Amino acid sequence: MKLEDIMSKMSESTTASKALKCITAATEYGLFQDIIPFQDVIEGPGSSTRTVDLLKANKGSKALIVTDAMLVKLGVINPMLEAMDNANFPYAIFDGVEPNPSIENIEACFDTYINNGCNCIVAFGGGSSMDCAKVVACRVAKPNMPVIKMSRLMGYFPVTLTGDAKKVPFLAAVPTTAGTGAESTVAAVVSNHAIDKKVTITDIAMRPKAVILDASLAAGLPPRPTAETAIDAFCHCLEGYLNKSHNPRTDEYAIRGMRLIKENIEAAVNDGKNLTARQNLTNAAYFGGQVLNFEMTGYVHPFCHKIGAKYSLVHGRCIGAVLPIILEEYGKDVEKRLAKAGVLIGISDPYASESEQAKQIIAWIRDFDAKYGIAATIPEINEADFEEIADSIMLENIVYPTVTVFTREQIYSILKKIKG
Ligand SMILES: [Fe+2]
Repeated sequence: MKLEDIMSKMSESTTASKALKCITAATEYGLFQDIIPFQDVIEGPGSSTRTVDLLKANKGSKALIVTDAMLVKLGVINPMLEAMDNANFPYAIFDGVEPNPSIENIEACFDTYINNGCNCIVAFGGGSSMDCAKVVACRVAKPNMPVIKMSRLMGYFPVTLTGDAKKVPFLAAVPTTAGTGAESTVAAVVSNHAIDKKVTITDIAMRPKAVILDASLAAGLPPRPTAETAIDAFCHCLEGYLNKSHNPRTDEYAIRGMRLIKENIEAAVNDGKNLTARQNLTNAAYFGGQVLNFEMTGYVHPFCHKIGAKYSLVHGRCIGAVLPIILEEYGKDVEKRLAKAGVLIGISDPYASESEQAKQIIAWIRDFDAKYGIAATIPEINEADFEEIADSIMLENIVYPTVTVFTREQIYSILKKIKG
């Protein structure tokens, strides 16, 4: 039976279908804005040294620091650790986070938390460390629910709906790249290697309680990952802005985020130690995360999640290639909003027609890719995998308030363009 047939059967009467429809409707009407908890935010170069103050203020007595080995080796984490040492604040370190953490990887991190008697968590790193720490925090509240179980039914609400949100330990997020916005979002992406797929786990209780936006931590990031993370953040802002769920509050985050990226990317790539440009990109990524929370993503991310997992590709590279192709496929459905965004960000000519303005922002994305070495296509995609990839995209997109719904044939045609 084809996925379309299964989805059509689901839509007839099942509880799962009704639940998914409620989530989609709630997103479209912006209802999540009132239930997603606020975060404490500290920003500025050097602010990671203040993490310990947040832990103390929230009754932390021993922290698990969730990070990757490279950040420890390079010493990026040292200022934060030195501040914790100076304050005699105990901690354990899990520095084994893998890129796109697997279920097994997250379980190992959870074991470290339990075995060391921790009662709070610091996520220090890129999106992978954030996602790992967020799922571990939920795992603490649900000790009998392994990650594999959380990842079923598209991962929705394993903690809050069962009344266990208060058991989630205090989690502070210290991002070291400016891209995923994972420090702000209520979701985590987990790799399930058994099915070659990235699975999203979502619960408002997994949102970090505090965020430290310290641009000095990204000062050593080379130009390519700087650009790849920036285009990812740009995409979060733009996809949300174009979705049916857009609203004035989050539109502001989206436009501010995209404008900061447009105005600062060149300076950050040319001089990684330009902390003003870095801080602006870090803040932009945070705005992108806020947009994801309230407006969700469009079709670009379902394509990139599956393609990235299937062929082990960097997320930002996939985004750079897929974003302009999807925008062109949306066509008239997004022209007005795309044109408006282009003008407000300062990319599109305010005196051009809407159609021209929309084309100008797509052209700017292609120029961005070319300028910073992001390939325009993904030749690694295998045509024999189209059916499997389309299944994943159609399933993931069920809950996203996109402006249109692509048919399977359209998805195949888009995949051909992405493959190049
Ligand atoms: Fe993304």
